[in-house]
Amino acid sequence: MTGQTHLVTGASSGLGRASAIALARLGARVVLLVRDRSRGDEVRGTILRQGGSADVLQADLSSRASVRRAAAEVLGAHRRLDVLIHNAAIYTPRRTLTGEGLETMLATNHLGPFLLTALLRGALLAAKPSRVIVVTAPSTTRIDFDDIQGERRFGSLSRFGATKMANLMFTYELASRLAGSGVTANAVFPGVFKSGLMDAAPPLIRWLGGLRAASAEAAAEHIVQAATDPALADVSGVFFSGRRPARTAPDSLAVDLRERLWDLSEGLTGASIPHWAGD
Ligand SMILES: NC(=O)c1ccc[n+]([C@@H]2O[C@H](COP(=O)([O-])OP(=O)(O)OC[C@H]3O[C@@H](n4cnc5c(N)ncnc54)[C@H](OP(=O)(O)O)[C@@H]3O)[C@@H](O)[C@H]2O)c1
Repeated sequence: MTGQTHLVTGASSGLGRASAIALARLGARVVLLVRDRSRGDEVRGTILRQGGSADVLQADLSSRASVRRAAAEVLGAHRRLDVLIHNAAIYTPRRTLTGEGLETMLATNHLGPFLLTALLRGALLAAKPSRVIVVTAPSTTRIDFDDIQGERRFGSLSRFGATKMANLMFTYELASRLAGSGVTANAVFPGVFKSGLMDAAPPLIRWLGGLRAASAEAAAEHIVQAATDPALADVSGVFFSGRRPARTAPDSLAVDLRERLWDLSEGLTGASIPHWAGD
C-alpha cells in the first residue's frame, strides 16, 4: 500500500479507527475524516507511533457545506485517492434535523457519502485502479420515497435500516455508473462487533447486538480485505458479508428504485455522479 492514499470516514472510533490503523500498518497514508479533531489527533498519534502516516480531516458529514470544505481540502493536499471508505454512520433514537434542515441519519449515513464521492470522483479516477468501499449491513428495510425525511412517520430503527438500504443501492448504482472507469465500488458487512453506534437504541436491541459481537479490530479485517486484496482489483458492484459475496434484498437491486434514490440524492446534495463516459 506504500504510496497510496486511503480516506476513512468516522475514523475516530469503532470500525473506522481500527480500519485506519490497520491500513496505515500496511503502508497507506490514511486521511482520517473525523467530527472531532482532537479525537482524530489521538488516532493519528497511534498511527505515527507505529511508524505509519496519517492526516486528520475535520468534517461533519451531515452538513453539505462541511463536506464541500473537506473535499476541497483533500483535493488541495492529495491529487489522487486510491481508496475511499464510507464507514461513518449515526443512529438517533428520535427524529432530529441538521442545521441544513435534513433528517440527521439520512444526511449522515447516505447523503454525506453521496456528496463526498461526487466531489472526490476526479481524485479517484486519477488513482485508478481505485476503490470505493461502503460499510453497511444486509438491510431489508424498504425506503419510503414519499416521506424520505420521515416527516409523516418516523421509527428510528426502520429509518436507520433505510439508510443502510440506501448504502446498498448507492453502491450498486455507483458501480454501474463507474463501470469501465477503473474505479470499483463494493459494499461490506463487517459482521456484528462491539461499538457505541447503537448506545441509544432500545435495551433489547443493545442486548441482541452484544451477543456474539466481535471486536472492531477483527471486523476491520474485512474492510482491509475489500480495500487491498489484489484478487478484488476488478470486482465491483458486490456485497461482501465478511469475506464472501452475498445477495441482498430485492429492493437494493431494483434499478428503478436505485434511480429514484439517485435523483433524490442529486436534488438534496446539489451534486451529480454521471455515468463514466470513457477515457
Ligand atoms: N457495530 C456493528 O455491529 C455494525 C454492524 C454492521 C455494520 N456496522 C457499520 O459500521 C460502521 C461503523 O460503525 P461503528 O459500529 O464502528 O460505530 P461508531 O464507533 O459509532 O462509529 C461511527 C463513526 O461515525 C462518525 N460519525 C457520526 N456522525 C458523523 C458525522 N456527522 N460526520 C462525521 N462522522 C460522523 C462517528 O464520529 P464520533 O466519534 O464523533 O461520534 C464515529 O467515528 C457504520 O457504517 C455501521 O453501520 C456496524
